[in-house]
Amino acid sequence: MKKITIAVDGFSSCGKSTMAKDLAKEIGYVYVDSGAMYRTVALYALEQGIIKEGKIDEDRLKQEMGNINISFHFNPQRGRPDTYLNGQCVEDRIRTLEVSNHVSPIAALGFVREEMVRQQQRMGEEGGIIMDGRDIGTTVFPNAELKIFVTASAEIRAQRRYDELTAKGESCNMADILRNVEERDYIDTHREISPLCQAADALVLDNSHMTIEEQKQWLIRAYQHAIEK
Ligand code: DC
Repeated sequence: MKKITIAVDGFSSCGKSTMAKDLAKEIGYVYVDSGAMYRTVALYALEQGIIKEGKIDEDRLKQEMGNINISFHFNPQRGRPDTYLNGQCVEDRIRTLEVSNHVSPIAALGFVREEMVRQQQRMGEEGGIIMDGRDIGTTVFPNAELKIFVTASAEIRAQRRYDELTAKGESCNMADILRNVEERDYIDTHREISPLCQAADALVLDNSHMTIEEQKQWLIRAYQHAIEK
């Protein structure tokens, strides 16, 4: 059966990665969470003191980009790949609110995006890949056979992130999370390079009031339609 490329883009915390990961498992494709790559760069910058008091030392980060080796290794227990930085698993460390609060300005830097896009395109050379992010259907894989643009209201997305963090035992408050979601929406859609926007040929999925199962069925139908084309 022909192996296509599937691009899943959309706002933060709208369940893109869960749906992309589930579809990849169902159809035997490789799943790549491109947001995890930007988060890993932000984590590196925070841990190395490249971000201090919210300010990024861009010159230093540019110089050190070559020291940031990102890879993914499938974790059978979680049923999805874990993210590694220089050979060390950073999957939990890249999901904290601290990283979430610093990642958007990192992802807005041209030299960071250039390097991430280059690595993402290399991962997709063989097809049979599902990648989720913000610019996958517009910049990384503009010729993807299936493009999906996912959206849900900011309040619903904040609630989902709150549930995720509290389930992990991280203390957080709803107002902070909603503010973080809205701020990231703003930065992601207004940045100069590859802002989040719907590709003209993307199918829109608003999952505000959809169950995981309904969403799964919707995706499988979209995938079947794309491979029959
Ligand atoms: O999907 P996420 O919330 O883990 O993404 C983290 C950040 O990275 C978010 O601020 C948007 C940015 N991002 C991006 O600019 N381009 C991508 N392809 C994926 C994520």
